[in-house]
Amino acid sequence: MSETVLVTGGAGYIGSHTAMALITAGHKVVVVDNFVNAKPDALSVVAELTGVEIPIIDGDARDVELLTSVIEDHGVTAVIHMAALKAVGESVEMPLEYYGNNLETAIATLQAMRDAGIYKFVFSSSATVYGDPESCPIPEDASIGATNPYGMTKEMIEVIIRDLAASDDRWKVTALRYFNPVGAHESGKISEAPLGKPNNLMPMIMEVATGKREKVMVFGDDWPTADGTGVRDYIHIMDLVEGHVAALEHLDVQEGYEVYNLGQGEGVSVLELIRGVEEATGMQIPYEVTGRRAGDIAECVADPSKANSVLGWKTTRDIAQACRDAWNSQ
Ligand SMILES: NC(=O)c1ccc[n+]([C@@H]2O[C@H](COP(=O)([O-])OP(=O)(O)OC[C@H]3O[C@@H](n4cnc5c(N)ncnc54)[C@H](O)[C@@H]3O)[C@@H](O)[C@H]2O)c1
Repeated sequence: MSETVLVTGGAGYIGSHTAMALITAGHKVVVVDNFVNAKPDALSVVAELTGVEIPIIDGDARDVELLTSVIEDHGVTAVIHMAALKAVGESVEMPLEYYGNNLETAIATLQAMRDAGIYKFVFSSSATVYGDPESCPIPEDASIGATNPYGMTKEMIEVIIRDLAASDDRWKVTALRYFNPVGAHESGKISEAPLGKPNNLMPMIMEVATGKREKVMVFGDDWPTADGTGVRDYIHIMDLVEGHVAALEHLDVQEGYEVYNLGQGEGVSVLELIRGVEEATGMQIPYEVTGRRAGDIAECVADPSKANSVLGWKTTRDIAQACRDAWNSQ
């Protein structure tokens, strides 16, 4: 069934790529974004590449009335909720802003959906809900316990949507726990372009590759990992967003609340990612090892088998391609 999907926070890195994947799969997209961490440019490129107009509403996803009228005016049938502040370090310094923005956008979006009588909801959660995992790869039923306010907002919203689904069986809601999205659309025309200082490793490495930053800071080389640097599960952005299309389409046969890991299922260390970019660019990427960052963990790798079997979704792009596409988008 073709859906008209409201993507809150849809102008951002994952949202703009999600719009691309949804339109390619035959769905319609409407975006609400307040542009606190994005510009409209990426969505203009998506519209250009697909030849499909994307209505973009410059507004706040905490505004129930606005969201309700967007849902009604555009005939929205499902929502992918991405609007959030997402920097872990900043969330420790500004917990009220993070709890305020992230919880309020989620609750307002759900209220607007209920007011408008639509019940299909996909939520951008995060592997940060697992905190410091007991072992890797991590299945969805591993214990959760975020270690920072950002991760706690994701954990709390998961509880809210689970309780909501239990209260009324019209709700079909899915939380997608993302691991570490990297790379860009194959065209190279949409990229990860955060306003201000990037917080994720790949955009930092890209800043070094493009001469905007002198070196990559590597936080600790004494972790209990093969080369001593932190190991994460990097997933190509296009694989990640195709997972959203699969999750959305699966809502037709889903009952209540489900949660899925979206990850590659393989660990890559900081030094391996730097080497991957060196291979993709033919450049040397200078780096400096400093002390561990408070709250960091050694390893975080997904067990994606539930999404593989239930959603029929699998990653098809490797880390080398993610490095090439990230570089191409620069
Ligand atoms: N990028 C990652 O590594 C990662 C990992 C796990 C989960 N996530 C989650 O995925 C979602 C998208 O992340 P992203 O990397 O694309 O981030 P992003 O910052 O590029 O996109 C988030 C978008 O939300 C918008 N926004 C924030 N508050 C808003 C509000 N009150 N009203 C309207 N718009 C608002 C921002 O302007 C931005 O365009 C977020 O919920 C994030 O927490 C991201």
